[in-house]
Formats: sequence, structure tokens, C-alpha cells
Amino acid sequence: MLSFDFLVIGSGIGGLGFALKVAEHGTVGVICKGKADLTNTSYAQGGLSAVTDPKDTFEVHVQDTLTAGAGLCDEKMVRLLAEKAPLCIQELQELGVNFTRSPEGNLDLGREGGHSQNRIVHTHDYTGFSIQQALLKAVSANKNITLLEDHFAIDLLLSENSESGKKCIGVQAFSAEKESIFPIYAKAVMLASGGAGQVYQHTTNPEVATGDGLAMAYRAGAKIKDVEFVQFHPTSLYDPGKPTFLISEAVRGFGAELVNADGIAFMKKQHPLGSLAPRDVVSRAIQKEMQKTDSPCVYLDLRHLPSEEIKTRFPKIYARCHESNLDMATNLIPVVPAAHYMCGGVVTDASGRTSIKNLYCCGETACTGIHGANRLASNSLPEAWIFASASAEAAVLEFRKETLSDFDNPLPEVPGRATDMHIASKTQAQKAAIQQLMWEHVGIARSIPGLRLCLGELEQLLAEITQTKQQAGFSLALQELQNLAQVGLLITRAALNRKQNLGCHFINSSNPKCSDLNSQELVEYSSKHTF
Ligand code: SIN
Repeated sequence: MLSFDFLVIGSGIGGLGFALKVAEHGTVGVICKGKADLTNTSYAQGGLSAVTDPKDTFEVHVQDTLTAGAGLCDEKMVRLLAEKAPLCIQELQELGVNFTRSPEGNLDLGREGGHSQNRIVHTHDYTGFSIQQALLKAVSANKNITLLEDHFAIDLLLSENSESGKKCIGVQAFSAEKESIFPIYAKAVMLASGGAGQVYQHTTNPEVATGDGLAMAYRAGAKIKDVEFVQFHPTSLYDPGKPTFLISEAVRGFGAELVNADGIAFMKKQHPLGSLAPRDVVSRAIQKEMQKTDSPCVYLDLRHLPSEEIKTRFPKIYARCHESNLDMATNLIPVVPAAHYMCGGVVTDASGRTSIKNLYCCGETACTGIHGANRLASNSLPEAWIFASASAEAAVLEFRKETLSDFDNPLPEVPGRATDMHIASKTQAQKAAIQQLMWEHVGIARSIPGLRLCLGELEQLLAEITQTKQQAGFSLALQELQNLAQVGLLITRAALNRKQNLGCHFINSSNPKCSDLNSQELVEYSSKHTF
């Protein structure tokens, strides 16, 4: 029987941060769905917002976060983030992360949307990658941590008794190498499995971001909140047929302007911060501009900026644009919004505790209340680190009270597959259907008829997927698909329940009222209208 004192699901900044801190006190298992560096953290370009400049203050960081969050943030949690972010920078540096510095040796501070100060600490345009590498190095040197790559967490294992109520005692996991499903037990479980960007047709997230943690927590009965607030990043490279590639907001922070197909800088009249307005505002404005000019994209204009500095500051983005024959210094860069970040998630307190005993959560899977209805750029990496640390402190205090008696009768090992070849093409088609439904109806601008249509279609898809799973047995691809459908439904239901436009949740009321249409009429309606 496989068991640890602490079990971590996910190998991004939150999961590895937690693992490193608890490893001083017990054994730790870290489950990664693929290779350990395939995480949303690795993909993060921009950086970490933290007050490190004497001209900046915690209060301004707090106010910027509250403003971006459209009044829905938990101010106490936001203050905690602002005050602890500088320590996060220090601890990451101690672990070997090299943040970019000015020639004078000070941290080079970038600017991103919604920030009224330069406060983004970064490593050129590959901040997340540099953090991921440093954390993995520290983890591999730590004898108390076992990294279980290519292990997929299927469901949380729970025990229930009248004294302690429901508590988490591990996970049911699938190993691709062993082609089997087996339990992994632990006294404390950290859910840090990242986001759910893959529920949308266009996303900046990697393939692995299928909302597994959120779906698993939902099935276990954990409290979930604010998942209607899906943040769309305003600028991913428009390059049809190629995997979506993020163009960091730091590019706009560096001085790039958003212009429409007619070359007009359209953000100035939308918001006092222009191209650097909060993301929800910019993404909606871009979508409107694309419709107005009947164009598939808008553009980033950097032609007025120093070309050598562009190359040094954004080496990865420069190289990717170059692959598509675009020179950032001389060409307009075509961009479109893409699903980027889940602002809500599994509800936690300031110590990462969820509503289920011994289950902790941090990072994008969690809802700490910091992001409200729209996350302030670059608040997520420090949030994940800070709450991983706080969870570690709480879990270390509590895990010793647990015994291994819950694991006396371990679940048996059973066979499973990565893909079921007979149903692979159906699985692919259903995944594409979910992604398209979500993109069209639960995207940047929504409508009540569109949300209702999506709800009905997703419910039907989920029923079909569940039936296939019952007939064909477990396969990883099918489980991911079920997770996607469940997460899509959670987002759609939450969007229907949110009566007021707020941050990332926007119902376009200029759509005709057609709540009385039946589902066939809705399908016809939606095929003719952009919601
Ligand atoms: C970016 O680099 O634009 C993304 C940063 C973030 O999402 O916080």
C-alpha cells in the first residue's frame, strides 16, 4: 500500500511550494499528471506582483487588486497577499530563482493591466519557467519528497464517521506506466492541480489544464465559489492552426498599444488606463472592436519602442513571433483574447483549509477570495506561494493527530487505460463540442439564452460520457472528458445564477430576450447570432 504523511496533487508553484515546506516534517508524495514541469506555472510569462519599490505601498497594491476584482474581493485576504508578497520574492530568490535586475542591481519592475505602479517582479518573459526549474531542483534534492510523474489523480478518497465527519484520506490514482488504478493514502492532502483553461476552445493553458482538481473536489462535496469568473487574457497570438501562445501583458506594460484593423488605438476612449486597463475591460473591448471592424483579430503596436530592448526584455515572445515571420519591432502583432485563468474555485480559509477536513487547496484550483470577479495581473503566483506556505503550517500542526487506521483495508488495485482506442474519436469529438459550446456561450460576453442552451447541451454530453464510462471502464481520456463536462456545467450554472454583470461575468443585454425559445429554436438562434 502506498502512503505518505502528505500527498500533493499538482507540481506547479503551489504544489511544490507546499511539498518543500512540509517535507521537513514528514514524507511527501507529489502526483503529477504528466511530466513534473508541465504546469500552468511553467507557462507564466509576466511575473509576480509585489511591493518592493520604496515609492510603492501595500495600500496601493491592495486598492489595485480590489478595483480589478470589481468589488468582490475579500479585503482581509488581499491585505494578507500584499503584505506577504515581498517575502515570497525573497524565498524564491533563496531557492535560486534569478529575477531580472536593472544595471544598478535593483529588481527590474514591470507593469501590467490594472496596476497603478511598476511592481511586477519577473525573469525576462519566462518567469514561471524559471520558478518551476528552481522548485524542481529543490524537490529532487529532497529525500523526503517522492515525485510520481505520469500519475493521474482520479478522485479524492474520503472517510466519514460521526466523530470527525467527512475527511480526506488520500486519492484514487491511475498510473499510465502500470496501467492500473490504486489508492494512495495520506494524513493531509493538498489539491494544487491548476486551472481549467481546456474547457474552452481557445486558451493560454497547456493540454493538462482540464479542471481535474475542481471536478474532483466538486464530486467530493467541497464548497466551490465564483467559478463564473473566468478570466480571458486579452492578447494571445492570432496564428490560426497553431497552439495558442500568450503575448504577456508586460508587453503592453512596456509601452505596446492595442490598435484595431484600421490602425486606431481604441482603448484610450474605453478606460483611463487605456491598453493597460483591467483584463475584463480590455478583452470585451477587443471583442467589440473585432465585431465592429469585421476582423478576426486586433493588433499590438510596438513600432515606437526601442527594438533592441524589445528583444532583451521579451526573448521568448520575440522568438515565437519570429517563427511566424513577425518582427515585434517592425510589424503589427495580431492578437485575440483566450481563456486564461479561473478566478473562483474550491473555497479555502487563510490557511488553505477547505470545507473537507485534511483537504487543503491552493493556487488556481482554490478560491481564497483574493481575485474577486477579475484577478489583478500577476497576483496568482504570489497567491499560490503564500497560501501553500500557510497551508503547510496548518497541515504540519494537524497531521500528527491523524493515524493510519483509516487505511487498514486498502482499496484493491484494478486495471485502467490511458486511452480506449475504440472510443478515442468519440472522446475527441465530445471534447471539441464542450470547448466550442463554452467558447461560444460562456465566454467573454454571454447571454441568458446562450447560457441555457449550453447548460442543456452539457448536461446531455455529461450523461453520454458517464454512460460510456460505465460501459467501457476507466480510461484517462474519458475521465478528463468527464471532468471538463462537469467543470463546464459548474461555470455555466454559476453564470446563470449571477444576476449582475461583474468583472469577468458579462451578460450582453443587447441580445434579444428569447428565454421562451425551446431548445431547437435556441440552437437555430445561436447559430445565427454572436452572443
Ligand atoms: C501575462 O504575462 O500577461 C500573464 C500574467 C498573469 O496572468 O498574471
